[in-house]
Amino acid sequence: MSIEAYEVKTSDEAEKVRKYVKMCSRKGGKAYVHSFGCQLNVSDGEKMKGILDSLGFTFTDKYDEADLILLNTCAVRESAEDTVYGTLGNMKKYKQQNPGVILILCGCMAQEEKTIEKVKSHYSFVDILFGTSALSQLPRLLLEHYSGKKLAYDIAEYSEEFGADDQIRGSSFKASVPIMFGCNNFCTYCIVPYVRGRERSRSADVIIKEVEELAAKGYKEIMLLGQNVNSYGNDLEDSMNFAQLLRRLNQIEGDFWIRFMSSHPKDAGKDLLDAILECEKVGKHLHLPVQCGSNSVLKRMNRHYTAETYQEIVDYLRARYEGFSLSSDIMVGFPNETNEEFEDTLKLVERVKYDNIYTFIYSKRSGTKAAEMEDITPDSEKRKRMERLLKLQREVATENYKRFVGKTERVLVEGESKQGEGWLFGKTNAFTIVEFKGNKSLIGTFVNVKITDSRNWAVSGELV
Ligand code: 5AD
Ligand code: SF4
Repeated sequence: MSIEAYEVKTSDEAEKVRKYVKMCSRKGGKAYVHSFGCQLNVSDGEKMKGILDSLGFTFTDKYDEADLILLNTCAVRESAEDTVYGTLGNMKKYKQQNPGVILILCGCMAQEEKTIEKVKSHYSFVDILFGTSALSQLPRLLLEHYSGKKLAYDIAEYSEEFGADDQIRGSSFKASVPIMFGCNNFCTYCIVPYVRGRERSRSADVIIKEVEELAAKGYKEIMLLGQNVNSYGNDLEDSMNFAQLLRRLNQIEGDFWIRFMSSHPKDAGKDLLDAILECEKVGKHLHLPVQCGSNSVLKRMNRHYTAETYQEIVDYLRARYEGFSLSSDIMVGFPNETNEEFEDTLKLVERVKYDNIYTFIYSKRSGTKAAEMEDITPDSEKRKRMERLLKLQREVATENYKRFVGKTERVLVEGESKQGEGWLFGKTNAFTIVEFKGNKSLIGTFVNVKITDSRNWAVSGELV
């Protein structure tokens, strides 16, 4: 499928919406946009802000000052959905007191059939609902709403391309660039392939141009995004693969780092690992979600690799780059995970020595294969396993981070640290958090920091 350029600014529809915005807004045409969940969602939120901006809205970070509230939702775990329903519940009163306010639900949850039903029956104050591939339909749906439609909705798949200038980015020095959408992997626990559809890669030329523009504007960190970036290009004819794309982006002029997320271990071949190791702009860090360390559970998860083949990737990277940084997603309590199977996860965490892990207790997602699997492990046991995993990771990370002490690291300064007055924080190209004292004017620049101390999640030091 070809992806066509998206042109909101010039359309008739947009012109009409702009008139309605002026006419109907009681609070000066302000929009509150909140994205839950992963970085792809945040990136979609930036595009929708771009659309709203072109329709005449300005932005507020307080929903009770807004004429338009847009909740860009996440469906990956039940807790994420509960948060969205909780937020909707909190907003109900504001909406009742201000019936002209437009309430929009979009993102992964909105793509699910059951959400549409629930919105109709329990949250009928929602005005517009659209799915993950219908961002470009926002002007039309707004128009339908202004024309009196009760619930304007669209969950079809559209394929417009958003340019770098069509989005309002949250940072002036860090930018996300989606390189592909959707996922073909169908891990048995995961809802993503159902709500984000099949893999669609953006053309390499478009991605290269976008990164060139961002680099020219002085962005210091470019984050390439996809559910499974390693399969980039598989759906395009004669396309570069991800390793080739990384090497090509590495040639773009400018002082910036390239990061990417997420990678699937089954597709992390030597060509990709070599590209990471050899491209000087690419961070010496890999987020490689393992999910668990048990081969039998990995099989039930439909992950297509084993703990041993995963370890080979780790060993390959560390043999060529000492202390290469790894992080992971780990799930505890997959249906009928036995204690022995869980112990295999602990063994893997001990062997791999991650700098950081994101941990989740398995959450049943209706429609997935795992939701049909029997699960007799009690929740209390799952929570105990989670505590053991977190305790082990704290010990591993405490040891790990000592490797930086005494070294001088290049750091991209990201903001003020919660440490206290005068403290800043940033990250190295291996994604290590570094805290140090310095002037706020350094935010958004590269500095060198001599590391003097380490903890189990970050290091600290002094500006050189
Ligand atoms: N339950 C718990 N965690 C999940 N993840 C994905 N689906 C589920 C689920 N049903 C986790 C995986 C994935 C991360 C983004 O979210 O670990 O890598
Ligand atoms: Fe979900 Fe697996 Fe696809 Fe990741 S690779 S989005 S876990 S199905």
